[in-house]
Amino acid sequence: MATIQMLVGLLLLSDLVESVSRENFKTCNQSSFCKRHRRLRSDASPYVVLMETMQIQPSRIEVQILNTKNNVRLLMQVTAIKDNTARLKINELNPLRKRYEIPVGDVLVGEPKTQDMKVLVRSGSSISLGFEENKILITSRPFRVDFINKEEPVVSINAQGLLKFEHSRERNPPQKGWLGIWFTRGFSEGEEEPKEPPMENQADKKKKEGEKKGNEENDANEPETWEETFKDFHDSKPYGPSSVGVDVSFRGFKYVYGIPEHAESMALKTTKSGDPYRLFNLDVFGYELYNPMALYGSVPVMLAHNEKQTVGVFWHNAAESWVDISFNTVDKVADIVGRGRNERPQTNTHWISESGVIDVFIMMGPTAHDVFYQYAQLTGTTNLPPMFAISYHQCRWNYNDQGDVENVDANFDIYDIPYDVIWLDIDHADGKRYFTWDARKFSNPIEMVNNIASKGRKMVTIVDPHLKVDGNYRINKEAKDQGLYVKNKDGNDYEGWCWSETSSWPDFTNPKVRQWWASKFLFDDYKGSTADLFTWNDMNEPAVFNGPEITLHKDAKHMGGFENSDLHNIYGYYMQQATAEGQLLRSNNKDRPFVLTRAFFAGSQRWGAAWTGDNAAEWSHLKVSIPMLLSLSLVGITHSGADVGGFFNNPDPELLTRWYQAAAFQPFFRAHAHEFSKRREPYLQPKKNMQVIRDAIRARYSYLPLWYTLFYEGEQSGAPPMRPLWVEYPTDKRTFKMDDEYLIGTSLLVKPITEKGQTGTHVYFPGKDQLWYDIASYNSYKGGQSTYVEAPLSKIPVFQKGGSIIPRKMRIRRSSGLMKHDPFTLVVCLDKSGSATGSLYVDDYNSFNYRKGEHLLRSFSFQHNEFHSRSGDKFCSFSTKEWVEKIVIIGLSARPTKAILNVKGVESSLQLSYSSDNNQVIIRKPGVNIAKDFSIKLS
Ligand code: GLC
Repeated sequence: MATIQMLVGLLLLSDLVESVSRENFKTCNQSSFCKRHRRLRSDASPYVVLMETMQIQPSRIEVQILNTKNNVRLLMQVTAIKDNTARLKINELNPLRKRYEIPVGDVLVGEPKTQDMKVLVRSGSSISLGFEENKILITSRPFRVDFINKEEPVVSINAQGLLKFEHSRERNPPQKGWLGIWFTRGFSEGEEEPKEPPMENQADKKKKEGEKKGNEENDANEPETWEETFKDFHDSKPYGPSSVGVDVSFRGFKYVYGIPEHAESMALKTTKSGDPYRLFNLDVFGYELYNPMALYGSVPVMLAHNEKQTVGVFWHNAAESWVDISFNTVDKVADIVGRGRNERPQTNTHWISESGVIDVFIMMGPTAHDVFYQYAQLTGTTNLPPMFAISYHQCRWNYNDQGDVENVDANFDIYDIPYDVIWLDIDHADGKRYFTWDARKFSNPIEMVNNIASKGRKMVTIVDPHLKVDGNYRINKEAKDQGLYVKNKDGNDYEGWCWSETSSWPDFTNPKVRQWWASKFLFDDYKGSTADLFTWNDMNEPAVFNGPEITLHKDAKHMGGFENSDLHNIYGYYMQQATAEGQLLRSNNKDRPFVLTRAFFAGSQRWGAAWTGDNAAEWSHLKVSIPMLLSLSLVGITHSGADVGGFFNNPDPELLTRWYQAAAFQPFFRAHAHEFSKRREPYLQPKKNMQVIRDAIRARYSYLPLWYTLFYEGEQSGAPPMRPLWVEYPTDKRTFKMDDEYLIGTSLLVKPITEKGQTGTHVYFPGKDQLWYDIASYNSYKGGQSTYVEAPLSKIPVFQKGGSIIPRKMRIRRSSGLMKHDPFTLVVCLDKSGSATGSLYVDDYNSFNYRKGEHLLRSFSFQHNEFHSRSGDKFCSFSTKEWVEKIVIIGLSARPTKAILNVKGVESSLQLSYSSDNNQVIIRKPGVNIAKDFSIKLS
């Protein structure tokens, strides 16, 4: 136990720790499977397609692939999926042991809908298939598959010949002699050490030869393929090598994005001189910026974009993975589809996973929005969050007791700063036994939550996956008695250390365990919880302080005998799912859940929000939060944010203020801080900073109708509310790498200030004929150019697009809950032709009734001096008290004197005011209920 205390002590001393302890985490070279794949050379793929085994079904081709070096056969399926998507799957034809595949219905929302393909050309050496505007060309020798959209090859698989599929095999019986022992067995724990050293020179020589050739059979004889040791941690690898990998070339593309989570720029970089990007959910203490090391979550999805097209690839595999990237100025793999080598750039990627099968979805776009939709068809979208979840959250480690909570809550009111949710970290629970309360500090949690809820606010408690091994802890006892824990390699409950000292981890990969976990959120079970209490799932990579790389042992066992190495990256996904299902269960599916997670995987968007973990109070961390959130947004994790202020250390007031300003315009907006950092609630800041922070938070509240509408649209289409510029300006090359500014939907452009002492910034305004209006001054800026904009501390550089109408609520109250019935202000910024459009989504902001049609979708337009509000969806209806209080119109060419309101043919005159500054017209009190159609004519 001394060691765990030391460990915890170390973590508490985090202020002193500046950067990651790299030695705790593997490099590719320290990971035997990564190393084996990475040393493959692209010249000679040993794989050929056995054309004679081909079976052609309407939407699928099935064919065997032979590894000519070892005669092992694989089975490939190529399927056409609805909406411009293709799937390529490769598994062993006759595996000795079933390889792990993520059950359909978990990450994939269901069996993807297929569509028919036509055989276009077939010969003894290739076949070409057609669907929609796409062709798939399968070539036999060497094996490769090209995906062609509108005659343009966009994605090729195995064009560089890096396919490597380590088939399941029995361990060879030991050969005689030292060399034999060394090659076939390695030395496992407890084995007697040999008396003489192995013949190192020969072994090394042979190994090197294998490296040169990338020879699979030599690989399998390397000691690390059967057992592996990292630091003091041993991976018993009872099933031997099982990794898979292949290259994916993006043809004609210079920019690729995605594969979070990395503290990295949005446009991914070449990995030529360093490690590949690693996807392995890890608790990385003090993470470094701009490097490919793994972080808390993994989404194996990559997008590629050029002026003509966006495509995407989803690598459906939950094992530890690495992705290499290199760029070529010419298309090296062009020739095959009848085109000569040409000047098109090409991005070569190489995907390597420790286990599982090759299961790749190729999303052919052709626009970014198409890719969002295609990916959403596969893994689902971010469910519309309840309104409080997209409002401002106040967190720190810790709010110590009920008095502390009351005090913070009261101060927000005293200083007139809105907030929606106050969060409790690990020490609220009795000895970090989650689902319990420390009775001394929180003697009446229900009363506490109810007090908070009386102001329309909510609370969140943390519930981590490590359950304290303690016979008196009911939840642990249930899990133990019912056999719900992850097992170690010997079949006993896995034990390790985390916040709650010796702990075990529920096996969330098992649906039964998820059901049990969900039932723990029933009000009767989780005493002290109410319908206003929501959940934070942390440490769910999972973090194991004394485990290899601070996580579970690779040979820990999950349901079905699968090892952690088969599915590591999906553990946190399942935990968040089980928690969200618990919240659904307790409300009988009436209320929308809210769960924040630190670990995530593809599809996690369906279960709630995610954040970027333990960042630091440094300007560089504020800056990197933008590309990190853009990367998450591009791959579906759209409700995401970074700890405002930085988790470790203490931000000075300027940094904190700038951080609030940025995050007020990011999807998930939560302040959080380490327990040893100084208190930094907004009201504790120097007066000037406090006022600016208050303004930023209030700005967030005023734009909640826009955010809510975007989240609704995102639920339908998969489009992220926070977007890189290139998504909306796909032909503008200047935006392809831009990750210091971004769009919210299509109508707001945000350029946060991320440098100390900065009082102005160059803003790139996209769109050649576009106008952009500063949201505070309504000064206008021309699109298609970069302009310097003053940004003193009080200023957030945010601009509304000319041609857009944004719904806002300007009566800011203590919480979004209290603003529920408040009226709207519609801000109309005109484009050069004097027109604008916009929309607004409205429902009860909390329940699932909207799915029964109880919602409103309003469509606004302004043209020829006339404003219209119409229903944007005939099939919905909802009655609300919300009404239209004000319409602000910016950019009119002539001053109007009259405004005539028309509701169902009944006309009345409205008050109008005009300011010659920016030609601003304010129409006061149309007073019409938001559900009603109306128009206003200006003359
Ligand atoms: C982890 C989390 C952090 C939390 C802390 C204590 O470090 O990332 O947000 O406050 O654990 O629970």
